[in-house]
This record gives sequence, structure tokens and C-alpha cells, in this order.
Amino acid sequence: MNTDNLARDTDEEVVRRILILTGGGDAPGLNAVLRAFVKTATDLGLKVFGSEDGFAGLMEEPTRVVPLTREDVRGILPKGGSILGCSNRANPFAYVERGAGGTERTVDLSERVKAKLQELEIDILVLVGGDGTMDIGMRFAKMGVSVVGIPKTIDNDLAATDLTFGLDTAVGTATWAIDALHSTAEAHDRVMILEVMGRDAGWIALLAGIAGGADVILIPEIHYDIDRIVDKIEARSPTGNSFSIVVVGEGAKPIGGTVSDITASHESISQRQDGPGAQLAALLEARTDHEIRVTVLGHLQRSGSPSSFDRILGTRFGVHAAYLCYNDNTGQVVALKGQDIVSVPLEAAVANLKRVPPDGELVMVARTMGIELGEK
Ligand code: F6P
Repeated sequence: MNTDNLARDTDEEVVRRILILTGGGDAPGLNAVLRAFVKTATDLGLKVFGSEDGFAGLMEEPTRVVPLTREDVRGILPKGGSILGCSNRANPFAYVERGAGGTERTVDLSERVKAKLQELEIDILVLVGGDGTMDIGMRFAKMGVSVVGIPKTIDNDLAATDLTFGLDTAVGTATWAIDALHSTAEAHDRVMILEVMGRDAGWIALLAGIAGGADVILIPEIHYDIDRIVDKIEARSPTGNSFSIVVVGEGAKPIGGTVSDITASHESISQRQDGPGAQLAALLEARTDHEIRVTVLGHLQRSGSPSSFDRILGTRFGVHAAYLCYNDNTGQVVALKGQDIVSVPLEAAVANLKRVPPDGELVMVARTMGIELGEK
């Protein structure tokens, strides 16, 4: 790395220097956050730097940290991904070093990262990330690093905020998939299973299932009774509907089953041939004569241009995070509460996962609409 362009100018003695990174997996809207943050922070007189590929840019030698200016964020609003790159394998507190012959050892590089931040004279570290990244942020805050968080994930499972950006685009893509599957399902009288992301939270499955008019929605929060799903599929035939659309969240399990270990799978291949969609198909095949097909929507849900909602939420988060930095209000995470953007303590972001309440309004609406949720 050429560090010349990272040095503090002598005439910027009092200018605060902020480093931003996008941790974990990508989510649609990340570039909207970066654009809004860089523009606002720069206008407020702050100097902004970015670490490439999450914490990897700070941990690796040579360091991969770049200055970010208004020019760097021009034209990125409609783009998916992150101009800084992402990594969900770059946890400084548990970094897996790979040696010769495929050997692996886990090392703690947090002190190295802290020293690097000091060397670069970074005053505030801004983390755009999900629960894992916020947890890392908490740990750095305890080590004396000033941290500001911006919650991100298509899974919408962060308790700190009512909504995360990325969810809306993912739900839109999943809804498109349900709409598209309807015609082929109907033409062949098949049961079409659509497996969607969300890890241990069923937000994408439930919202897309309602939006797409699914017949069955299975979410991790409600372990399903396979007999109820069979009954639902069979009951549709006499009404002239010989096809069914089933949406299954990747963390969904049958009662007493252990279909999907998302945490373990996250370390290597997260979309497995024997995932929850395939397991549901096997359970149904043993119980009905219907032809069954499985579609795993996978990373399409994180790809493509962000929806206008995600661009707007990302922009709002970016602007507010820049003001938190300007006001030195650190140890905070920006959040959407109702219609407002607020900030909440970092601890709140890692306190617990926000999962779909099984007795909540959305589940009630789905049930009232005749959607089978597999409840016992
Ligand atoms: O957390 C976002 C998410 O897309 C989950 O819904 C999914 O389980 C996981 O990340 C996939 O991770 P990877 O990109 O590492 O396969």
C-alpha cells in the first residue's frame, strides 16, 4: 500500500479521520450508505477512508485502506454489492490463517487492527454490518476504539432497528420468483417449493410468501407439522387447483427435525443440495402423489440493483451516521424506529436476534388469508 495519500496533512490537525467498512455478506443498499456517508461527512469537514473487504483491508499486509472522496462515490447509487468489497471471513478476533498443506489456525488479530487504526490516526471506525460485525464493533469499543454502527442485512434480524436495508430488495426478488413459478406450477400441476434466505429469521419467507400469494409458508420460528402441509396440498385439488406454491425459509425445520444447521453451513457452502427445501420435498414425496420441484433462490436475493426503499433507507442511515461522527456521538448504531431515524447504543444491536413473532400480526394475517404455516 502506498501510505502517502493516507497521511494527515499538516493543515488538517483538527480534522477528524473516519474509517468505514462493509462487513459480512453484502446487502442491496450498501453503496447508497457509502455514497451518503462520504458526501455528508466530507461536507461536514471530516476525512473519510475505507477498508477493503471488511476487516481484511486492515488485517492484511500490505494494508488495503483507501481515501474516499465525493468522486469515488459518484454514480454508485443503483449498483448492488459494495464498492469497498465485503468479507464474512474476516473477523479480527477469530481470524482463520491458512498455512501450507491446507493447515488452519485461528488467531486473534484485534490488537493488530487497533494498532493499525492508531497508525492511520483514525478517530472513528464506522461499521456497516449485521450481527457478527456489530459484535466485533462491541468488542473493539470495549478496547477503547470509537465505533459507530450502521445495521445491514437482508435477513432483517437485528433487534436495534425496525428494518434493515436489503430486506426490501430480497423480498422483491423472492416475490418475483413466486410469481414466475406460478405459471409452470399450474401448467404441470406440481408442488413448487421455493427456498429463500434469512438464516434463523423468517422475514423474507413470510413477507414474500404473503406478497406472492403462496399456499404454504414455512419459517424457522414455527416448526412445521408435515401432515398439515400434505392436507393443505390435497385440499387444493378438489377446488380445481392441482398445483401449490410452498415458500420455505432456509432455517425452517419440521417438528422434531434438525433439517438445517445454518451456522455450520455458513462457514462453507451455505446453499446445500440437502437444504430445507430438498428435505421438505423428500417428506412430501413420501406422503403425496404430486410431482414436486425445488428452487433454491440463493444469492439472487442479495444481487442486483437495490429497490428505491433500500436506497432511501441506506441514504438515511449514511447521512445520520455521518452526523453521529461529526458530533462525536460514538458507541451508537443508527436505526429506524417507526418513521424516524434514531441512534441506539451498540449493545442494543447485539442484544438478541429479531425473529418473526409466531403470535404476531403478520403471522395472523397470513393465517387469515388461508396460508398454511404448518402450525401444530
Ligand atoms: O446473512 C445474509 C445471508 O444471505 C443469509 O440469509 C444466508 O444464510 C447467508 O448470508 C449466506 O452466506 P454466504 O454468502 O456466505 O453464502
